[in-house]
Amino acid sequence: MTQQTLIITRPDDWHVHLRDDEAMQAIVGHTARQFARAVIMPNLKPPVTTVALAQAYCARIERALMASGVVKGSFTPLMTLYLTDKTDPDEIIRAHEAGNIVALKLYPAGATTNSDAGVTDLLGKCSKVLEAMQRVGMPLLVHGEVTDPEVDVFDREALFIDRVMIPLRKAFPELKVVFEHITTKDGVDYVRDAAGPIAATITAQHLLYNRNEIFKGGVRPHFYCLPILKRELHRVALVEAATSDSPRFFLGSDSAPHAKGLKENACGCAGCYTAVHALELYATAFERAQKIEKLEAFASFRGPDFYGLPRNTGTVTLKREAYTVPLEVAYGSETLVPLAAGETLPWAMV
Ligand code: NCD
Ligand code: ZN
Repeated sequence: MTQQTLIITRPDDWHVHLRDDEAMQAIVGHTARQFARAVIMPNLKPPVTTVALAQAYCARIERALMASGVVKGSFTPLMTLYLTDKTDPDEIIRAHEAGNIVALKLYPAGATTNSDAGVTDLLGKCSKVLEAMQRVGMPLLVHGEVTDPEVDVFDREALFIDRVMIPLRKAFPELKVVFEHITTKDGVDYVRDAAGPIAATITAQHLLYNRNEIFKGGVRPHFYCLPILKRELHRVALVEAATSDSPRFFLGSDSAPHAKGLKENACGCAGCYTAVHALELYATAFERAQKIEKLEAFASFRGPDFYGLPRNTGTVTLKREAYTVPLEVAYGSETLVPLAAGETLPWAMV
């Protein structure tokens, strides 16, 4: 008989964008409903570059959670700092001591949304900071795309491995690195086989779709995110990695809300909104691969194991029940179009 319910340990989202102010207020409850913890990206305007800014942001998140009716303590934001050319090595020590700051995020300058303050020369400008991170065991979360405008947008991740990732990890072999939202077979192969402490997050959209989806019958901006969807062979490699027994691949939704009008635009923003239905999307991808039994390790075990945090207690239940993705969800005075809006998925969170 086909399986009707799936009960898994409460999962975490190891990469999410919560935004700020009324945008955050509109969506924070979605992530808190699906996940016990989430790693909160620091690409606000201005970016979250210091412990003081991270603590102020964390307090705003807590207030928004409360205003959304989330039970106190039922969801924990794990904060990150935005690495810049000017980050002070002492800030790493302060972050480490703070307890709720779990990582630094590397955005190569100009790679994606709000990344103008990003790093221009990682080994040249940030060596002291990387040394401090390696010493205290603070992970570096990497947006792994080269920013050279000459490089084809579909090749930016693969080239990043040779140009940045390998030299970085050679210089700092004990530094914990998460290759965020990997999108290519090249990324999978590198993370699976490399020596030392490395892992990768994988989004639902990169497990479910290849790049054809962006162009089916016309330009479909809600499938546009960075790193951009790739060819089918890459999607297949990502599904194999996520559903494998390797401890190095885990859930990071990269849910990145942009108001409908900024997506359906002559110059549409990059980002897919998946926080409202992340588990349903991942369950769909695992089901299609006939590996639904591997979802728990991917969503709930490997992330905390890599970060050195305890696994969650308690469970969530998914039911085999048609779930139709809403066409739009409220976003302050505007709306958001979630990924796969209007589609019907086979699993629903109870
Ligand atoms: C993210 C965003 O909008 O903040 N967009 C995206 O396409 N993933 C930025 C990012 O994570 O690259
Ligand atoms: Zn992101």
